[in-house]
Amino acid sequence: MKGIILAGGKATRLYPITKSISKQLLPIYDKPMIYYPLSVLMLAGIKDILVISTPEALGSFKALLGDGKDFGVKISYAIQPKPGGIGQAFVIGEEFIAGQKVCLILGDNLFYGDRLSAALQKASRKKEGATIFGYPVNNPKEYGVIGLDSKNKVISIEEKPKKPKSKWAVTGLYFYDKNIVKIAKSVKPSKRGEVEITDINKVYLRQKKLDVQFLGRGCAWLDTGTYESLIEASIFIKTIQERQGLKIGCIEEVAYRMGFISKKQLEKLAQGFKTEYGLYLKKVANGDG
Ligand code: DAU
Repeated sequence: MKGIILAGGKATRLYPITKSISKQLLPIYDKPMIYYPLSVLMLAGIKDILVISTPEALGSFKALLGDGKDFGVKISYAIQPKPGGIGQAFVIGEEFIAGQKVCLILGDNLFYGDRLSAALQKASRKKEGATIFGYPVNNPKEYGVIGLDSKNKVISIEEKPKKPKSKWAVTGLYFYDKNIVKIAKSVKPSKRGEVEITDINKVYLRQKKLDVQFLGRGCAWLDTGTYESLIEASIFIKTIQERQGLKIGCIEEVAYRMGFISKKQLEKLAQGFKTEYGLYLKKVANGDG
């Protein structure tokens, strides 16, 4: 299975912070934002990953992540010249996807929870159809929203509805079968000129091939779209990390625990950081992380 991180867009809601730097490179406490979605793909067992971003930002992502070898994965890069919609990722990534199944994650989505790995692995094992993840929010109007019937069966998905049918938002994590590129190409751009991910999900729903996994209270799905949510995400990560003495979204650690890199490789990576981050990696390598 292939993985795509979509990390483009202009993030004008965060101006002036994001005027000259990509939002997905901003720090969430002790790491760049993109580490978090990258670690989610790695936890799903995905090792072949495409990062899509703007022409201006792509070089910075390359400088940060390189070819992925350090973390036991393969990272390639592609440009999205303009924000043409989340669904455009599959058209841009057609050659990379090469007819395989693919998982897309938005570069600004943060997930945390002990059920997460199991949910990811279940979705990646599925042979046909699509899987999306629902999460209860207070402000569903700002998201794709899942409509359910009395038996909790999914009957609709609407993008930023004025009157949300439920409080279940669609998160920015999507698993698709090999038909995704064809479907993405068949979806007409919306009024705002974007290939909407919600329209793609609606095709799978109509075909009765859409699974929704509901992430409940034991999971955190965090937003990073505004000044407030950005700092709240940092505080959340800091609080949990300090309490547990375990890091969230630490790609070097995930690579080691998933068996993508050896103890020796992790120790070498640890030496590259003269910070608490490096000390932590050393602890993980020694088995006391
Ligand atoms: O975060 C989950 C939500 O993401 C879903 O509930 C919605 O259904 C989905 O449409 C999307 O809504 P947003 O309002 O968050 O979409 P936004 O346009 O802000 O894009 C989300 C991220 O994807 C953002 O970091 C920028 C990036 N992006 C977006 C577009 C449209 C790109 O890299 N390229 C694009 O063309």
